[in-house]
This record gives sequence, structure tokens and C-alpha cells, in this order.
Amino acid sequence: DAGADELAERVRAAKEKLGDRVLIMGHFYQREEVVVHADYLGDSFQLAKAAKAHPEAEAIVFCGVHFMAETADMLSGPHQAVILPNLAAGCSMADMASIDEVEECWEQLTDLYGDLDTRDAEGLLPVIPVTYMNSSAAIKGFVGRHNGIVCTSSNARTVLEWAFEQGRRVLFFPDQHLGRNTAKAMGVTAEQMPMWNPRQPLGGSSADQLQDARVILWHGFCSVHRRFTVDQIAQARSDYPGVRVIVHPECPAPVVDAADESGSTDYIRTAIEAATEPTVFAIGTEINLVQRLAAQNPQHTIFCLDPVVCPCSTMYRIHPGYIAWVLEGLLEGDVRNRITVPEDVAVHARVALERMLAAKP
Ligand code: 13P
Ligand code: SF4
Repeated sequence: DAGADELAERVRAAKEKLGDRVLIMGHFYQREEVVVHADYLGDSFQLAKAAKAHPEAEAIVFCGVHFMAETADMLSGPHQAVILPNLAAGCSMADMASIDEVEECWEQLTDLYGDLDTRDAEGLLPVIPVTYMNSSAAIKGFVGRHNGIVCTSSNARTVLEWAFEQGRRVLFFPDQHLGRNTAKAMGVTAEQMPMWNPRQPLGGSSADQLQDARVILWHGFCSVHRRFTVDQIAQARSDYPGVRVIVHPECPAPVVDAADESGSTDYIRTAIEAATEPTVFAIGTEINLVQRLAAQNPQHTIFCLDPVVCPCSTMYRIHPGYIAWVLEGLLEGDVRNRITVPEDVAVHARVALERMLAAKP
């Protein structure tokens, strides 16, 4: 429509005038009208690496959610401004682990296991904190201060392997599903994975259960990926015998178990693009990515497992109107919606992020 065309033109014109001064990054879940303007599209791990790899841009316009922009700010240079076009683009899962709750949990675990920052005779720590990228900078800073590490859905296993070389147990937050799915695939049993409920003493577990724990899970989840069910997979298999079912590891464990494969947004994209024979794919992730993959790969039949369209409502808050507004601001010398992580937090969070970047997938 005319309004959309006009906005797209405003973004294009401002971007052309800014040239190399600006880099537009987009997450795979962004809507098409945003993706067309992106210089770089990726999953959260790729976007974090890209933020580090482009020191020439004086501004990075980050079309994604708040925790991704914070990460980009911490990994890019101090001369670079990271801009989140709409400051209301958060992530409900990231909000499920507050720094106060995590610190309180850490204190309770200290009472149980002793000083958590002191290695035992075998050189192991009692607990290694591992945070999913989908968490605030304050949480990443906490993790960095306590010998911990960040992971994304594309490197969670590598990161957990690293953590088990460092410590006897892992405290994994905020996403219970990514934690459970990854640990389960590594042979950790359900009994060894108690879930921490911050509203109960010792998170609702007994001291004995926590002694035997390998991975203590947080109670967070993604409201988009929680919608996928085993019944939807059964329906897809009955409608399309031979269908290949791929889901994101933020889905509940029974869904991941019933699928053929699970992986990050880039894993899903790569798996589809690598299929040489025409294939039917049923995908368990956000709808904008599924629809784009379907349009780009007409040789395959690709559909979303959830028949009710399921966008990530906060990713959707990035709209071309905001992109035009921040780019036009840059042209006037006005840096709008800059995301700045305070240096006293960033210095620790960067340690946890750099550990992740060093732990090769
Ligand atoms: P990826 O790391 O797979 O891009 O996922 C990020 C995310 O928020 C999924 O909900
Ligand atoms: Fe957060 Fe879920 Fe949206 Fe990913 S899809 S940004 S985890 S709410």
C-alpha cells in the first residue's frame, strides 16, 4: 500500500545518504518489510558475532529485541552506537529471570554447597551459572563475575560441555526448555534436573535433590515456542507421511523428542536450504521465519506446525516507521533510542560472552 511504500522509500533514502556510517542488522524473526532493509540477517549467535566484526559502522540499527541490542552494544566498539528502533521490543522470556531473583538463588545455593567461587580439590566449582543469550546484561554480568558463560540455541551443548569441565553442577537460566533439552541429549536424567522456583525455599527442592543435581533449571519459557504440541506433530505426520519435522529447542521436551530434529533459527534455515530433494517440512518456530523460508524455497512444502499464526509479538514491534525515524535522526546528528549498557556491568558480561565465543561449536 501507499503508506508502506512511502515508509520503505524513506528508509532507503536515509540509508543511502548514511552509506557505510550505518549497519542495519535483523533477526530471522523480523517481518519482511524490515528484512528488506537489513544488511545482515542472522540468528542471535551470528548477530552477536557480526556486531563485533563491523567496527567501521558508527551506528548499528538493531532490528531484534532488547537483549540482542544490549549484547551488540557490549561487543561493538565504544565509538559505535547501537540503536533499538522501538524500545518496547523486549523478550518476555528474558524478563523471567530478574537479577534480584538470581542473586537470591545464588545465596541459597551458597548456604547449601559452600562458597560457589572456590574450586574443590579436583579443581571443580560447585555450580557454574549458564545464561541463555535471552537475558538482561545485568544477568550476563552476574554470570561473568561467577565463572559462568552465555549460550545461544546454536551452541548450548558445546557450552554445557565446557561448564561440566569447570564445575559439578550448572545453574541454567532463564529458559527451562533449552536447558532441559540440551542436558537430556547429553544423558542428564530428569531427577538430576530440578527446577528452581524462586518463590519457595531452596527453589522448592530438597537439599538431597540439589546435592545430586547436575543442572538446576530456571522456570522461564518462551510463550511463542510453548504453543507447539506433540499433537500438532502427529497431525503433520498423518497429513504428510514422510514429513521432516524441525523445531526450535525452546519447545517443550516432549515436542523436541517427537520432532525429527531441533536447532536454532539458522539451523532450521540451513537444513531446509541443504535439502536436495523436494521435501515437506513442518517447522516449530516463529511464523515470519517459516513464511520467508517457504517463499524462498518453492521446491519444498514448508509450513508452521501451529495452524494459528504465532508471531513473536515483541519482535513484531520493530516497524519500518521506527527505522525511518532513527535513520533520519542520525542524518540530523541525533542518536535516537541508543542502547547503552553501563561499563561496570558490561565489563563482566563481556567475559561471559567472550567465553562463549571462544567455546567453538
Ligand atoms: P536463535 O538463537 O535461534 O536466533 O533464537 C533466538 C530466539 O529468541 C528464539 O526465540
Ligand atoms: Fe523472546 Fe520467545 Fe520472542 Fe524469542 S520468540 S524473542 S524467546 S519471546
